[in-house]
Amino acid sequence: MANRLDAIVLAAGRSKRFKGSSPKVLHPLLGRPLIAHVLETLRVVKPKRVCLVVPPGKAVENALKGSKYPFEIVFAVQKEAGGTGHAAQIGLRKLQATGDVLVLAGDAPLVRAESLKALVEARREEAAASSILTAMFDDPPPYGRILRTDGAITGVVEARDATPEQLRVKEINTSTYAFDAQILARMLPKLTTDNAQGERYLTDVIGLLVDAGETLASVEGDPSEVMGTNTRADLAVVMRTLRKRVVQRLMDDGVTVVDPDTTYVDVGVTVGADTVLHPNVFLYDDTKIGSGCSIGPFAVLRSTKVGDGADVGPFASLRPGTQIAKGAHVGTFAEMKNAKIGEGAKVPHFSYLGDVTVGKGSNIAAGTITSNYDGKNKHATTIGDDVFIGSDTILVAPVRVGRGAYTGAGSVVTRDVAAGGLVYGVPATKRERKGGKKRKGRKG
Ligand code: UD1
Ligand code: CA
Repeated sequence: MANRLDAIVLAAGRSKRFKGSSPKVLHPLLGRPLIAHVLETLRVVKPKRVCLVVPPGKAVENALKGSKYPFEIVFAVQKEAGGTGHAAQIGLRKLQATGDVLVLAGDAPLVRAESLKALVEARREEAAASSILTAMFDDPPPYGRILRTDGAITGVVEARDATPEQLRVKEINTSTYAFDAQILARMLPKLTTDNAQGERYLTDVIGLLVDAGETLASVEGDPSEVMGTNTRADLAVVMRTLRKRVVQRLMDDGVTVVDPDTTYVDVGVTVGADTVLHPNVFLYDDTKIGSGCSIGPFAVLRSTKVGDGADVGPFASLRPGTQIAKGAHVGTFAEMKNAKIGEGAKVPHFSYLGDVTVGKGSNIAAGTITSNYDGKNKHATTIGDDVFIGSDTILVAPVRVGRGAYTGAGSVVTRDVAAGGLVYGVPATKRERKGGKKRKGRKG
């Protein structure tokens, strides 16, 4: 029977190079905190328990509240940043693991699940105390170097502690390992702080294992997956890499992406086949787009649902809670928030629709605005099916416009409009029956 698998994610570093006020592992990355990407990857690898080693305070715990994972998450606090070896020790003590344990850096969100699986397998198959994920670079970043003699690993040296000759080594340490938990537990107390940073380095465990006569295995990963996020510049590179993966996945699933370089899609977004994403489209959070849609160019959609065959843009900003039904059309310079647009309805030109329901087949002409905020509260606007809202109408909420009604151009609608009615004027108190005689308006 295979050993039980647990994991430790190191996330208690002080993010000195990041120069921010909150832990870098909480920095947003395509719709999730950085560390949540590592947890997403672990989902696939299925450890039993995951220990997050975190700085004092509840920031990391709070950021992950509300996310469900198929493993138990425990938190271990590292009071002061004593190095990756110290952090691993705190995590292992919390887990009391006795089988396999993966150790990952919480600031390296690009590591692939396949690599983690390969690490665990390599360690088991080669009966090694540890397997290390490495990567080859012609011109390596300032990461730890893998030292080998006749092919066998003899140690890892940090870039800042390395000799010029060691710095020429092209194979680097990704800070991703599988260990025999019991052997790791025996080695961690032996770490010293005898290095450039005065910290206990997890990397020194490798040398200790070699000294103890243990076998070591390694798996060569892809250079694109090893990137740690030490600086804001690293973060930009990580974002770009992850964004490319997400856009590639959409294209694999049948979405046309006209310009992948300017298409920004968060990891939680779904897009149906045969939809076209034009250049400069931004799809954020849990936006869901159906199939056969056309989005953009230049459209920002946040937590928005778009039904099959609908089109949005160019230049539209759809904010949370917006739902565009099948075949609806949202045109240029439309801003919406919490707007439900019915099947086949049209909002073709510059409009602001907030807290509104628009029925099927209605047409909202250019310049229409819902005046939904009275300075204290937000109010709803309800527009029925087959309504025609004339150009430059202002709908002063709360207000309802009945099915089949009309508003004249430039109306300021302050009172409900009956089904089939026509109102116009400022305020829109002049009323006519559709196709009927002009009626004298009531004072509003
Ligand atoms: C580490 C490795 C280096 C490797 C590189 C790859 C060590 C000593 N060095 O360097 O060999 O090439 O990753 O990205 O392990 N952390 C804690 N507590 C601490 C210190 C760090 O939890 O006291 C966490 C950090 O939050 C981070 C991770 O451990 O998520 C790695 O630490 P970091 O300081 O970024 O190590 P690197 O200098 O990148
Ligand atoms: Ca790092």
